Amino acid sequence: MKKIALLSIAAIATMFLSTAVLADVQSLRGDKLNTMAKKPANLKIVNVKGGIERSYKLQPPMVPHEVDKYEINLKNNGCMKCHSEATYEKEKAPKVGDSHYKDRDGKILKAVSSRRYFCNQCHAPQMGADPLVQNNFQGAK
Ligand code: HEC
Ligand code: HEC
Repeated sequence: MKKIALLSIAAIATMFLSTAVLADVQSLRGDKLNTMAKKPANLKIVNVKGGIERSYKLQPPMVPHEVDKYEINLKNNGCMKCHSEATYEKEKAPKVGDSHYKDRDGKILKAVSSRRYFCNQCHAPQMGADPLVQNNFQGAK
């Protein structure tokens, strides 16, 4: 009983202390953290015709289209409906890189390698959100 009372006093003290500290902290958007948060912008995934420019040669290219409908699970890879060796021409989609058919020893496989099976592990769709802070990064050309 005594222990519980002590613990709750400690918890209440921490709550007061952290509000006092937070009042002086500014977020990246310049808001004080103790003001009401703004509703997040209702952004949608952007479709970019012709693809999104890469920052360097071996970068996994970003996904220039919506992805919500394409499921990847044990039996089925929705992305390969368009990006596989067998379907890419018909779907007018870029074929997955040849590297996607190699195992770790460089052996060429018939199906996409398990190292490259979960496409969204490396390829991310884009929402067109403005960066929170200025950034002068330039891609290697
Ligand atoms: C219905 C067909 C279709 C499906 C399914 C599909 N894509 Fe695509 N994808 C395309 C087409 C077409 C393009 C080319 C768009 C363009 O360049 O205008 C493309 C482009 C891309 C690119 C850009 C390649 C580059 O070199 O710039 C990536 C990465 C990509 N898709 C990943 C994915 C992933 C990951 C999935 C599954 C979540 C997926 N795609 C599912 C049709 C598809
Ligand atoms: C482990 C990271 C990784 C995973 C997982 C992965 N990719 Fe890639 N992908 C890359 C990299 C890196 C490149 C660029 C270099 C290359 O082709 O290997 C690339 C290139 C591509 C390209 C452009 C090929 C070209 O010749 O321009 C497409 C399309 C693509 N990937 C689709 C997919 C799809 C579809 C999947 C899922 C079946 C997938 N990738 C899984 C890393 C990955």
